[in-house]
Amino acid sequence: MSYLFPNYQRKELELIKGSKCTLTDQTGKSYLDFTSGIGVMNLGYNDPELNQVLLEQANLLWHTPNLYENHLQEQVAEKLANGKEYVSYFCNSGAEANEAAIKLARKATGKSKIITFTNSFHGRTYGAMSATGQEIIHAGFEPLVPDFIYVPFNDIELLKAEIDQQTAAVMLELIQGEGGVLPAEESWIQAVQSLCKEYGALLIIDEIQTGIGRTGTFYAYEQYQIEPDIFTLAKGLGNGIPVGAMVGKTSLAEFFGPGSHGSTFGGNKLAMSVAYKVVERINQPKFLQDVQKKSQQLFTGLNQLAEKTSMIKAIRGKGLIIGIELANQDILKIVLDQLEIEGLLTLKAGQNVLRLLPPLTITENEIDQGLMIIEKVLHNLAKQTGFSEKGD
Ligand SMILES: Cc1ncc(COP(=O)(O)O)c(C=O)c1O
Repeated sequence: MSYLFPNYQRKELELIKGSKCTLTDQTGKSYLDFTSGIGVMNLGYNDPELNQVLLEQANLLWHTPNLYENHLQEQVAEKLANGKEYVSYFCNSGAEANEAAIKLARKATGKSKIITFTNSFHGRTYGAMSATGQEIIHAGFEPLVPDFIYVPFNDIELLKAEIDQQTAAVMLELIQGEGGVLPAEESWIQAVQSLCKEYGALLIIDEIQTGIGRTGTFYAYEQYQIEPDIFTLAKGLGNGIPVGAMVGKTSLAEFFGPGSHGSTFGGNKLAMSVAYKVVERINQPKFLQDVQKKSQQLFTGLNQLAEKTSMIKAIRGKGLIIGIELANQDILKIVLDQLEIEGLLTLKAGQNVLRLLPPLTITENEIDQGLMIIEKVLHNLAKQTGFSEKGD
């Protein structure tokens, strides 16, 4: 019997230690990690510099309430603004960052309607869940927070039909991560931004999975020539230390005045000390160019694989968030299990998408190793299931 709620479908294996891009389970078996703990461990496991920063802060002071100055929050916020006019609010998770974004958008505009997109994922708290455009996530938890409207992703006409003067915000992921690694089209995003401006709605970009270097730029929005009014971060920001951030244009600061919103732990000193170092290391041209190079290597290898087997329907993504759409969900399940047996940890997204989110510090050799394992598993499966391979 377990003393835990069964809300997670857990595997039997327990990971007990990690180093760089390798994890080890309780039996001593090692795995190459293409998950980053679901997009969290962007700098890999057991990083000496991050360990040192965390330990130094742990020996100094763990926590102070947000009743006192916190210079570490100021420093991280300055880094997140990245030379632009943005201010930050710190919290502890992605869902909390989105809650803050939703509350700020409603307060700043005085309007309540928020448009989000089918297949989106924004978190599990009531606001973030209500923003999430997936019925399966809502099931049993109704009534939801009112005035959320869901429209199809990458479709401008249906958005035009819904957006109006009562719209407080349009909220979206630039790559729908949990939904199936579905990238937004650039022309669509720019049209969304124009519509927001026309109707006085705020543009909220959920960068929780795509931010902090994951797509090869520090923020994914940099690749879309847009300037969000608000964007949200979590996952990679703390490289495993729980932290989230809601970042908004400086002009919105007055709407989150004293007493309007808050969190006991938000911007905790341990989290901020690590976040500062994470951002300092990732937001460097050389580091980000390397991510782009590794991305190319992985995409090239996967595209070559896709030419060899009809089991792969499509390959999508940017940087090191990559989705391999497989023929169906039964195949996906077998592939996930077989990859794990062969020592490669990967993720699912949507119904039938194999999602790869390796640490951004992955090496060329490790990418080749991962590709070889994927090829082997797909090849063996093709033989068993009768899926055609090139040359058959
Ligand atoms: C795009 C996006 N937004 C929000 C969340 C929720 O973040 P958290 O689980 O930290 O609450 C996630 C988590 O997967 C996410 O991918």
